[in-house]
Amino acid sequence: MTVGTVLITGGTGYIGSFTSLALLENDYNVVIVDNLYNSSKVALDRIELICGKRPVFYEADVTDEKALDDIFAEHPDIDSVIHFAALKAVGESSVIPLEYYRVNVGGSIALLRSMSKHDVTNIVFSSSATVYGDATRFENMIPIPEHCPIGPTNTYGRTKSMIEQVITDHVEAQRRNLKKADKPYEQWNGALLRYFNPCGAHPSGVMGEDPQGVPYNLLPLLGKVATGDMEKLKVFGTDYASRDGTAIRDYIHVLDLARGHLMALNYLREQKPGVKAWNLGSGRGSTVLEIIKAFSSVVGRDLPYEVVDRRPGDVLDLTANPALANKELQWKTELSMEDACADLWRWVSNNPQGYRQAPPAKLLEALKAEKA
Ligand SMILES: NC(=O)c1ccc[n+]([C@@H]2O[C@H](COP(=O)([O-])OP(=O)(O)OC[C@H]3O[C@@H](n4cnc5c(N)ncnc54)[C@H](O)[C@@H]3O)[C@@H](O)[C@H]2O)c1
Repeated sequence: MTVGTVLITGGTGYIGSFTSLALLENDYNVVIVDNLYNSSKVALDRIELICGKRPVFYEADVTDEKALDDIFAEHPDIDSVIHFAALKAVGESSVIPLEYYRVNVGGSIALLRSMSKHDVTNIVFSSSATVYGDATRFENMIPIPEHCPIGPTNTYGRTKSMIEQVITDHVEAQRRNLKKADKPYEQWNGALLRYFNPCGAHPSGVMGEDPQGVPYNLLPLLGKVATGDMEKLKVFGTDYASRDGTAIRDYIHVLDLARGHLMALNYLREQKPGVKAWNLGSGRGSTVLEIIKAFSSVVGRDLPYEVVDRRPGDVLDLTANPALANKELQWKTELSMEDACADLWRWVSNNPQGYRQAPPAKLLEALKAEKA
């Protein structure tokens, strides 16, 4: 029995692949659209390996409205979209901003236009804690609640807050226009999910983050240092007003994050709330040095790092107040930052070539035994 069919853009990417897995494990059908700019089709094999089901896959660009039209026409059962496809490197976004606006904002507009033509009316969107910018500019906004004013400090963050606005305006207009015409309108809904710092891998060790180029996030970079692919980690600034001088972030295990998408999707389809934003974070902040320590402890040796200047646009503290998602979505994190470190190390140490190698036989056997 299936509960519905969902289109997932960016579904072969890191968070998209884990969300596809969570949906398949919960009886949704999944149709993925990805142009493989930062991912590989092998993710589909790994999803199937773990849950025994394979998503339908289209290699297509989310800015290509005609391609999206064809896919929706082929799958009239799709009623919802989870939208991950985007460029996501903060530093790069200030070097090629037009490309970021074209893909992220332009892609979202093409998607919403195509959804509207095909009566696909629920959208769950990958937003980011980056939209808040420096929440320490206000009193009492750490941990950050959803009502904290938006104020992104970089181009990437501005694309995310702009898309939030585009989705809000469109969904609200659709509801208003349909209502005025005396037609059902509550089917139009949007979830703006503001993630904090996603990390970790599947506990089986066969599925994880495998970006096409150099990773930008702290934990994958530490993974590279641990395997010897990188000599040392750069710590950007030790003069922040934190307990050890390094910046504070809220690390959330990718399995928890994926489950958050499932809960948000179910909430949209059942409660029909219109557009709502939810923070997906643990509520626990860790400094860069604490993360280095936690990951070093899993690896079993101290990983080398070097202190360099702060990066422009970085902020002191991005820790979530996840109370709203806890209450409304009945969702809270179940795994810790330490679990994420252990799972990441299992993935990285067993698969130094990422998806360009077969997973080790011992992991496959363990997975098979667990399923039997
Ligand atoms: N990883 C994080 O730290 C983080 C934090 C907050 C928000 N997000 C957002 O979550 C989403 C997923 O992030 P991720 O970490 O899984 O990144 P990812 O790069 O692994 O996934 C993005 C996927 O989108 C695809 N893609 C890119 N441009 C496309 C296009 N034009 N058409 C079709 N597919 C395209 C890529 O090939 C990739 O598979 C992104 O929107 C990102 O901005 C990520």
